Amino acid sequence: MVTIVPAPSSQSVAAALAATGVGTLATPTYEWFTDDEILLSVPDFDDERAIVVGSTATSDAHVELLQLQDAVREAGARDVTTVIPYLGYARQDQAFKPGQPVSVRAMAKAISTGTDRVVVVNPHEPGVTDFFTVPTEVVDAAAALADPLDDLSEPLFVAPDKGATELATTTRDAYGRGDVDYFEKERDYDTGAVEHTPSDAPVTGRDVVVVDDIIATGGTMSSAIEVLADRGAARVYALCVHPVLAGAARTKLAAAGVERVVGTDTIEQPISDVSVAPAVADAIDG
Ligand code: R5P
Repeated sequence: MVTIVPAPSSQSVAAALAATGVGTLATPTYEWFTDDEILLSVPDFDDERAIVVGSTATSDAHVELLQLQDAVREAGARDVTTVIPYLGYARQDQAFKPGQPVSVRAMAKAISTGTDRVVVVNPHEPGVTDFFTVPTEVVDAAAALADPLDDLSEPLFVAPDKGATELATTTRDAYGRGDVDYFEKERDYDTGAVEHTPSDAPVTGRDVVVVDDIIATGGTMSSAIEVLADRGAARVYALCVHPVLAGAARTKLAAAGVERVVGTDTIEQPISDVSVAPAVADAIDG
């Protein structure tokens, strides 16, 4: 059998993974000390295979994942798979200015030292998998985002930038009908402000589903929703794989007039209405 070990950030998705039958849940001990150090421990287990599950949305979560990888080896695991539902720092995939690090490369190297393989869900750029030094598999969870959509009228699936077009297409295909389009996006990197240039696709009276990989500050998504509302869209849905929802993101979406926000459980949020666990289990079962 296989033991599944959840990091604090990924308890729901690890439980959902166990429910698919790929392994049995272990209950680790999580301790956080007053000097800000962390100590995560695993109970004794007999299995030779362990699956450590941890999203790395915060710097602490990175440390927690590394500790669990080390702990399962100490506990006797000979084969370790690391599932990263949300890979943090993936947008720092190059040194944008002189003197900057390639942060995700540093994270990937560290994670690789404690595992035999990595499974990562929709990394911001698929190319980041090259930074891991162990076999790495990407899971695409975009199809699951279509599950909660009700009966849409003349649906249009929109990517809020060209890079998200494949996600929007996958979600549309899973829904079964509708058009796909994308907006041109420009971001002011000093202020973070986003400006969208809409395409020519008619939206008046149609239900529109905006699909992105991440909603972080909500700037991208709320700008797209406002443009669609101005152009007469009926209901606008905001879908993302990774609901980071930093700061006032959820409020920005509501103020922009969103009908519903749907994310997965790669980051556990109140709007995490679908699970990536079945897709991850498929990747693990290979
Ligand atoms: C950018 O390329 C990503 O796909 C997302 O659009 C972006 O990370 C969303 O960030 P925010 O919510 O802060 O606009």
